[in-house]
Amino acid sequence: MVILGVNVDHIATVRQARKTFEPDPVMAATLAILGGADGITVHLREDRRHIQDRDLKILREVVPCELNLEMAATEEMINIALNIKPDMVTIVPEKRQELTTEGGLNVIELKDSLKEAIKKIKDAGIPVSLFINPERNDIECSKDIGADMVEIHTGYYSESRGDVQLKELERIKDAVAYSISLGLKTNAGHGLNYYNVKSIAAIKGLRGLYIGHSIIARAVLVGIEKAVREMKNLIKEAYINA
Ligand code: PXP
Repeated sequence: MVILGVNVDHIATVRQARKTFEPDPVMAATLAILGGADGITVHLREDRRHIQDRDLKILREVVPCELNLEMAATEEMINIALNIKPDMVTIVPEKRQELTTEGGLNVIELKDSLKEAIKKIKDAGIPVSLFINPERNDIECSKDIGADMVEIHTGYYSESRGDVQLKELERIKDAVAYSISLGLKTNAGHGLNYYNVKSIAAIKGLRGLYIGHSIIARAVLVGIEKAVREMKNLIKEAYINA
C-alpha cells in the first residue's frame, strides 16, 4: 500500500497569523503520526511564512518516521538540509507571490543547477525527490540528473472535473508507470482530498502520497465541536466556583 506523508504547513500558517505559540506544528505532527501518518512533510519557505527553522529542528528530534523537507534548491536551503538531515528532501519550485507550489519543476531548463543541488544533498546521505509535472521528458531528465525519486504533481487532476479530470488521471498513470520503469521511486501529491484521492491511491506501484491542505482543513472542522465544548466547560466551572 502507498504510504501517507502528512504536510503540517498550514498548522503553522494559523500560528503565524497571530505570531504566537499555537497551534504548534510539532504537536500536530505527533498527533498525525498517532493517527497513522507514515511521515511528516514541511516546506521551509524562503520567506518563512509558515514553518520556522525551530519547527524543523524539533521535528527532526521527535519524528520517528519519514521526515520530508520540501524546499527550493537554494544555497541557504541546501545548507539547512545538510545540517538537519531529514529522511528525504523534495525539491520544489518556489515563487514569493504564490499561495502554494503552483507547478512542477522545470527540470529541463534547470538541469545543471538541479544536478549540482541533488549531488550535494545525496553526498550527505539524504535521498532526493523532484516535484515534477506528469511529463515523460521531465521524468527522463530527473533520472539523468541523479534524482532518487519523483513526486508527480496531481494539482491539475485535482482542480479539473469530468472528462478533463479523467484525461489528467490517465496522464498521471502513464507518468507513474514510466517513472517506475526507469527505476525511480515514484510519489504523487498536491490538491488531493477526501473526494479525489481514491483514483490516485489505486495506481499500482506508487510509493507515497503527500497530502496537506485537505487533512488540516478537515481537522479544523471535525475538531471544532470538541474545542467549543471544552471552552464552555471552563467558563461554566469558573462561574460555578466564583
Ligand atoms: N507535494 C508538494 C511538493 C507540495 O508542494 C505540496 C504543498 O505544500 C503538497 C504535496 C501538498 O499539497 P496539498 O496541501 O494541496 O495537499
